[in-house]
Amino acid sequence: MLLMHNFDMETFKAILTRIEVREFSGEPVPLEQQVKVLEAGRAAASAYNRQPWNFVLINDKKLLNRIGELATTGPYIANSQFAVAVYVDPKNTFHVVDGTRAVQNMMLAAWDMGLGSCWVNGIEREKVSQILGAPPEMYLLTIIPFGKPSKKYKGKKSRKPLSEIAFLNSYERHLTEQ
Ligand SMILES: Cc1cc2nc3c(=O)[nH]c(=O)nc-3n(C[C@H](O)[C@H](O)[C@H](O)COP(=O)(O)O)c2cc1C
Repeated sequence: MLLMHNFDMETFKAILTRIEVREFSGEPVPLEQQVKVLEAGRAAASAYNRQPWNFVLINDKKLLNRIGELATTGPYIANSQFAVAVYVDPKNTFHVVDGTRAVQNMMLAAWDMGLGSCWVNGIEREKVSQILGAPPEMYLLTIIPFGKPSKKYKGKKSRKPLSEIAFLNSYERHLTEQ
């Protein structure tokens, strides 16, 4: 029998099940997978295809610990297997949108490989950028830690229902009122 692979369903499943992961098992992640995550970011679309981003792959344990200390809302970076610092060029009007699309690609690709991640915003950006040797004109959008989740996540999300947030042709008609 010919095995048919429904790629759309796989993507949809990844989107629906992925949740933020802040606790990591410590299991090593091969470099090949780490680079694959960056490839997913590189593949993101951007305004005018300007790709206003740079990614710094951080997989040195001491460096992860140091950056964890400088991440007020993401100290768990220290326990991740690797992290990606996403830099964007603020001269580009769409730098946040474009960078965020790259991040979402990385997160979903990682989830597909069994890796959890989380967006960390609370970072002492100047200190981290100095440590990483980043050009002063680049803005550190976020640092995303990655690793095997420490427990099995069921992927239960807390989200507003479509009936609350979606409309059909007009704001006067909720999507479910058909
Ligand atoms: C722009 C942005 C900033 C965030 N900052 C942090 C952060 O600093 N630390 C953290 O632990 N989570 C952070 N988060 C994660 C959110 O809390 C999380 O995406 C949201 O609660 C939904 O989580 P869920 O997908 O697991 O349901 C951030 C998310 C976004 C999109």
